[in-house]
Amino acid sequence: MTVISSTLDTNGPDYTANREAMLAKLAELDAEHAKALAGGGEKYVARHRKRGKLLARERIELLLDPDTPFLELSPLAAWGSDYTVGASLVTGIGVVEGVECLITANDPTVRGGASNPWSLKKALRANDIALANRLPCISLVESGGADLPSQKEIFIPGGAIFRDITRLSAAGIPTVAVVFGNSTAGGAYIPGMSDHVIMIKERAKVFLGGPPLVKMATGEESDDESLGGADMHARVSGLADYFAVDERDALRQARRVVARLNHRKAYPEPGPAEPPKYDADELLGIVPGDLKVPFDPREVIARIVDASDFDEFKPLYGTSLATGWATLHGYPVGILANAQGVLFSAESQKAAQFIQLANQRDIPLLFLHNTTGYMVGSQYEQGGIIKHGAMMINAVSNSRVPHLSVLMGASYGAGHYGMCGRAYDPRFLFAWPSAKSAVMGPQQLAGVLSIVARQSAAAKGQPYDEEADAALRAMVEQQIESESLPMFLSGRLYDDGVIDPRDTRTVLGLCLSALHTAPYEGVRGGFGVFRM
Ligand code: COA
Repeated sequence: MTVISSTLDTNGPDYTANREAMLAKLAELDAEHAKALAGGGEKYVARHRKRGKLLARERIELLLDPDTPFLELSPLAAWGSDYTVGASLVTGIGVVEGVECLITANDPTVRGGASNPWSLKKALRANDIALANRLPCISLVESGGADLPSQKEIFIPGGAIFRDITRLSAAGIPTVAVVFGNSTAGGAYIPGMSDHVIMIKERAKVFLGGPPLVKMATGEESDDESLGGADMHARVSGLADYFAVDERDALRQARRVVARLNHRKAYPEPGPAEPPKYDADELLGIVPGDLKVPFDPREVIARIVDASDFDEFKPLYGTSLATGWATLHGYPVGILANAQGVLFSAESQKAAQFIQLANQRDIPLLFLHNTTGYMVGSQYEQGGIIKHGAMMINAVSNSRVPHLSVLMGASYGAGHYGMCGRAYDPRFLFAWPSAKSAVMGPQQLAGVLSIVARQSAAAKGQPYDEEADAALRAMVEQQIESESLPMFLSGRLYDDGVIDPRDTRTVLGLCLSALHTAPYEGVRGGFGVFRM
């Protein structure tokens, strides 16, 4: 065995300081997660309960197999926007009748469950995950449809929701809609496009136009039940396949539908795996509060992979990037982890070679980010850093094994791309509360802007206002700092969630299990031309 031998001094001052900084960030994160859990707030939650209805997460809990985990995704969607944290939608992966499913549930306590631009992004991301990983999709529907004041942001792109449902179906991925309440106008196409539809007696309202609209359009007098009740759809229109007497009955019937899907995973479950040799709690003390201070990612790897066993590839070459093989909850993975922050030519070439090997062997890749980007300076430009960085980006772009990314610390510049950032379609991407991501560090960015402004003034023959420059730099630095933080980025759906470092192994294990529902094959030849 090649067990990592940890040199982390858990009694030292650095460890204690790092741990305290991480715990403070986790406390902030908890407060933001609590906002998502609170939904529309006490008043609307109480009203919802008074109507005899279950909350979105309670519905999910009853749908899932007892005592199985739910990997909630993007809980901080809409953070930092004018909309409620969570974006009036809960999404995640859970197990129903032994089948891993992608579940979405409208939160009707937030503006009637209406979809705003962030709900749309979150729903589309959930559909992407279902498609890539071949996970059956279950929609727990109760929504006022489009958030009307923001319709200009959602009406046109929002059509993709219905397109996705039928494309999933066409790809043989089952879709199930359970209608708990309002599902009108465009929303009617969620059950309309789904493979299996369950509606609840005297609760479901599924119509293209409600009674007032019908009256306006044709003069016909009608009511909710005759236009779109569960009874009518189960007996007359045939839109409902199953008629449920209440919410619990609907969830029970949804479980029966999944039990009969005959949905099979592409790969068998791996056998039991040995846990890491070191305590996951120690993951709190590894990343320094100041990201300029480097840390050894092997200390992280030692606490997330099976038996802390890591076969390092090219350990003496390109030492600023650690690469190697391990298993995680029994699944083989190739790991690329930034060790000293900067990526040089050697690291880039090593990464490209390693990614090719993983593709030859059909092994998923895990990227652990802590990089300030590719090295700049005449020596490095002359050494071909652009060519070598491009080689790594080429390899990661054209690689076809599943990728997972975790932002532990910095993830700046093209380094974010080379390490499989969001635009490179990792199957899942999570951030630790210590992560920061931007085009470059805040100080560097403010400094660059100041130099450019100074040169511009000189070119025009104008004097340079040093006082204004200092104020501008401070302001820009603060702005970039706040825009680099994980809560801000998670709010914009640039990750699938901000996680507690201690949960990393569990979260990655759930992702690896989910992604092994779909078959995959590494690319053997098809990379772009490598510029040598
Ligand atoms: N866009 C924006 N806000 C909406 C909304 C929508 N589509 N639907 C509801 N809301 C808001 C309401 O204005 C209300 O805000 P307030 O509490 O600040 O007054 C809040 O959400 C709760 O709505 P309310 O009507 O009190 O809740 P309800 O549970 O009794 O009814 C609906 C929910 C969805 C049945 C009802 O609000 C409704 O019919 N909405 C319009 C549906 C529609 O026509 N959508 C367009 C489809 S594309």
